[in-house]
Amino acid sequence: MATTTKPQLLSDLVAGMSRVPPNYIRPTSDRPNLHEVESLDGAIPLIDLQGLNGPNRFNIIKEIGLACKSYGFFQVKNHGVSEAVIDNMLRVSREFFHLPESERLKNYCDDPMKTTRLSTSFNVNTENVSSWRDYLRLHCHPLEDYMQEWPLNPPSFREVVAEYCKNARSIALRLLEAISESLGLEKEYIDRALGKHGQHMAINYYPPCPEPDLTLGLPGHTDPNAITILLQDEVPGLQVLKDGKWVAVNPIPYTFIVNIGDQIQVLSNDQYKSVLHRAVVNCEQERISIPTFYCPSPDAMIGPAPLLINVDPPPYYRNFAYSEYYQKFWDRGLTTQTCLDAFKTSRTP
Ligand code: OGA
Ligand code: NI
Repeated sequence: MATTTKPQLLSDLVAGMSRVPPNYIRPTSDRPNLHEVESLDGAIPLIDLQGLNGPNRFNIIKEIGLACKSYGFFQVKNHGVSEAVIDNMLRVSREFFHLPESERLKNYCDDPMKTTRLSTSFNVNTENVSSWRDYLRLHCHPLEDYMQEWPLNPPSFREVVAEYCKNARSIALRLLEAISESLGLEKEYIDRALGKHGQHMAINYYPPCPEPDLTLGLPGHTDPNAITILLQDEVPGLQVLKDGKWVAVNPIPYTFIVNIGDQIQVLSNDQYKSVLHRAVVNCEQERISIPTFYCPSPDAMIGPAPLLINVDPPPYYRNFAYSEYYQKFWDRGLTTQTCLDAFKTSRTP
């Protein structure tokens, strides 16, 4: 049914606010406990991709495999994306979220299945507690299928974002080959398993928050896709669960953070981990983060790679169409932290 009330973005609500509104306050068990969080530089491995297609390939692949097993997260440098492409992407994102409300709202839609949309929190239709975030979501592959839906303002938006998307895709493809090889699979295995491939992007905008101890930018979750390549600005906020504790991943300019999503956990039959992570907010500064979610096409059938299963270990997941998984992810409103459990076989340890 059509609604006549104007959507309420968080960025337009916060000006002059001194308290967090009640619907953003998390239950005490789910608050960030900001003073308890460790901030370790080097908490997540930083992998140098220089030479990935040269003499150093074997060693880099080993490092990537180790990081996927023990952290589910790593950072990359010398990834081949120029500083100008990164600067432009962050600039045009900031400019978008600084546009007048009426201009931004032209892109508003709260149906998660729509391919281009501005929204707020996570899924306003299914969640109980709101998250301190606005976000613009775009589908990006193939570019020519989606670009004409993207915002027209700022005027350079489409051109700058398209350039960024091509670069992000090229890193994703190189990493998927490396990850396949690190599992002992053919280089093209994951590429083929993803079918026609999908590439989505979020531009997350976290406004400053008067009481950051009471709320979260994004609660703990795993990503439903294959791998995520995250660009963040210079403001900290990302935290990763390591050995039962939240660890802050502080930004290193011009690096990307890569994490294993649920689909690689399934393909690898649990050798690689899709790890819980969350975003916290702060009183002083807005924060922008830009995850590229590289994913299977909706009709791709996903399951553990036959080469990685046998009698021991047995397959820990049943086969499913990615569209089924994706629907489940959005329907549950981030109330459970991961969807993987719903796809497990009875043989899972
Ligand atoms: C996400 C996410 C982390 C961040 O959008 O899935 O995990 O730092 N974002 O914003
Ligand atoms: Ni995430």
